[in-house]
Parts: sequence; structure tokens; C-alpha cells
Amino acid sequence: MLDVAVVGMGWWGKTLVNLISKSSKLRVVKGMKRNPASEMDFAREHGFEMVSDYADVLKDPKVKAVILCTPHTTHTEQVIAAAKAGKHVFCEKPLALTRADAERSLAAINANKLHIAIGHERRFEPPVMDMMRMIQSGELGVPLQIEANFSQDKFLALPADNWRLTPEEAPAGPITATGIHILDLSVSVFGAAESVWCSVKQLGSPLTNGDTLAAMVKFKKGGHALLTAILATPFDGRFAVYCSKGWIEVRDKAHPSTPMGWTLTKVVTGDQRETKEYPPSSSVLANVEAFADAVEGRAVYPMPQDQMLANISALEAIIASARSGERVMLK
Ligand SMILES: NC(=O)c1ccc[n+]([C@@H]2O[C@H](COP(=O)([O-])OP(=O)(O)OC[C@H]3O[C@@H](n4cnc5c(N)ncnc54)[C@H](O)[C@@H]3O)[C@@H](O)[C@H]2O)c1
Repeated sequence: MLDVAVVGMGWWGKTLVNLISKSSKLRVVKGMKRNPASEMDFAREHGFEMVSDYADVLKDPKVKAVILCTPHTTHTEQVIAAAKAGKHVFCEKPLALTRADAERSLAAINANKLHIAIGHERRFEPPVMDMMRMIQSGELGVPLQIEANFSQDKFLALPADNWRLTPEEAPAGPITATGIHILDLSVSVFGAAESVWCSVKQLGSPLTNGDTLAAMVKFKKGGHALLTAILATPFDGRFAVYCSKGWIEVRDKAHPSTPMGWTLTKVVTGDQRETKEYPPSSSVLANVEAFADAVEGRAVYPMPQDQMLANISALEAIIASARSGERVMLK
């Protein structure tokens, strides 16, 4: 059983506490919120101590790992401080907003021989795991091109000054909210990006930071990913990989916070279209449990650090391209 502290007790921090309460692999022993008064009942119900200072989390020997559910610009310094205190880290996405910051975080983790995991739960969706196995086995031939969409309208309910709508915390509109997940899956198929072109517009909402993103990512060792993320339309989640001997698509029926299952469609050249329905399961819980398995030596965490870095490199380039309107080359 891995004893963890959840840092940041907003939407996602509380989602994780609720999910972990059903786990036999992790236990929340501490929570941190800068103004904890509003969540004291929640902490009591779940049987953990709530503190208002990150330093109190880091000096507690009961806490073996931290789960960071905090604003994006705070991730790097919080990961580094946790690593210096000897705590393993599960960092919500994005690991950082720049490759240099992601490198600093990973260096601190590795220097202290700790584990790090990222909140990319889409990798843990059963149909996505099946899809990746089929692609990696070569049964669909050479992967050629990705088309993916992750859209939602949850942010329309946020106050205009919420951090998630600011250009500092959420540069390039929807990319840090949803687009980053399909960027991550694209990296897991094709590896590091070579260049990106991205456009973000405000078309159908009061979200002045932009509600509609289109990005084209060209990969060093493979084809392209055409990515769409919209914050002003109802939920949609779709990830399709076209390959030289067929294609495969996973469609989500609901947002990962309230899973309702998935549909996988596959066409192998010359065969009929096949469709498989998957029942709901929590990929978010599966991800934190995979982190616990890694920390406690039962399994290797399935997201390698080079892919964590490749994802943030591509993210940084997407942000730069959305700002400049130009194609951005990666190193
Ligand atoms: N994996 C997913 O699908 C998913 C879904 C939603 C959110 N997230 C991620 O979770 C993180 C939190 O997002 P959210 O929607 O819960 O935001 P939120 O605003 O609801 O919660 C953020 C929490 O962090 C606290 N906080 C702010 N600054 C802090 C600081 N310097 N130190 C400690 N705590 C601080 C806030 O008080 C709040 O409790 C983000 O990284 C976001 O991208 C991931």
C-alpha cells in the first residue's frame, strides 16, 4: 500500500481522492490546499489530515509520494522540491510547459532514484491499450497518419478569471486541458516530433484565451498527427490511426472523469469492418495504480521518460506556433 499526499484539492485532486478510496494499492494520508477551510469535511470523510503548506507535506515521513493536482506553472518547482525531499511524484499533466523545465524535473527525480508518473490516463483505457498492442505488433502494417479529437465544454462554467483560462497557465487555448492527451498518444505511436503548425481561435464562446485548436504535428520517424481540441462544443473523444494494412479508431463515450465505455473500430485491408464495445472502467485509477506498482517494484511504469520529454517538446512547439502563426521546427 503506497501512502500518498494529494496536493491541490480542486476538481481533479478531489476526483483522485475519491477514486483512490476504492484502491487496495494506494492510500491518501495527507492533503494540501492553500485555503483548506472549505475542504475540511471532505478530508475528515476520507480520513486524511489537510494542511495548507507544501513544506508540511514534504517533511512528513508517512508520505511516500505526492500527487500534484495544481496549476501548470507550479508543476516544475513542486516536482523538484518533492524529489529533493525523497518523495516519488505523480504529476498531473502537463509535466511542464517547456522542455527545459521537464528536463529539470526528470533530472531531480533521477538524481534521487525516484519514480515519476504523469496524468495521461488515456494510455490506460483498455481499448487504447489494445490499439497500441496491435500497432506495435505490426499487424496493421506501418502507421501512416493519426486523426484525433478531444473536446469538451466543461470550462464554459468557469469564472472568466479562473487560472485554467489564462494565457500564462493555459497557453494555446485547449492544448493543456485536452489536446495534450492526444498529443501524448501520438508521441506513443510515432515518437519525437520534427515540426508543428498550430492555430488557436476564439470562435464560439467567451473564452478569450481561445476555444478552438487545430494542430498538425510532423514526426521524425513517422507520419503526421492532425489534432483537434475544442472547448466550446460537447464532449467528443476520438483517436484514429491509419496504417498500411488497415486502420483503427477508439471513440470515448464520455469524459474520463465519468467513464461510460468505448467503441473500437478496426478495418484490416480486405476484411469487413469490426466493432467492439468496451464497458466503463476508470483509466484514471488504473494510471495511479500503475504508479504505485512502479514505486513498490511490481511493474515498470509504462510511460518512458523519453516520451514524457518528447510530449513536452511538442507542447512547447505548439504553444510557440499558436503565438507566431508560423511552423515551428523542433531540435
Ligand atoms: N488527467 C486529466 O484528465 C485531468 C483532468 C482535469 C485536470 N487535470 C489536471 O489537474 C491539475 C489541476 O486541475 P484542476 O482542474 O483540478 O484545477 P482546480 O483549479 O480545480 O484545482 C487546483 C488546486 O490547486 C490549488 N493550488 C493553486 N496554486 C497552488 C500552489 N501554488 N500550491 C498548491 N496548491 C495550489 C488550488 O487551490 C486548487 O485546490 C492540472 O494540472 C490539470 O491539467 C487533469
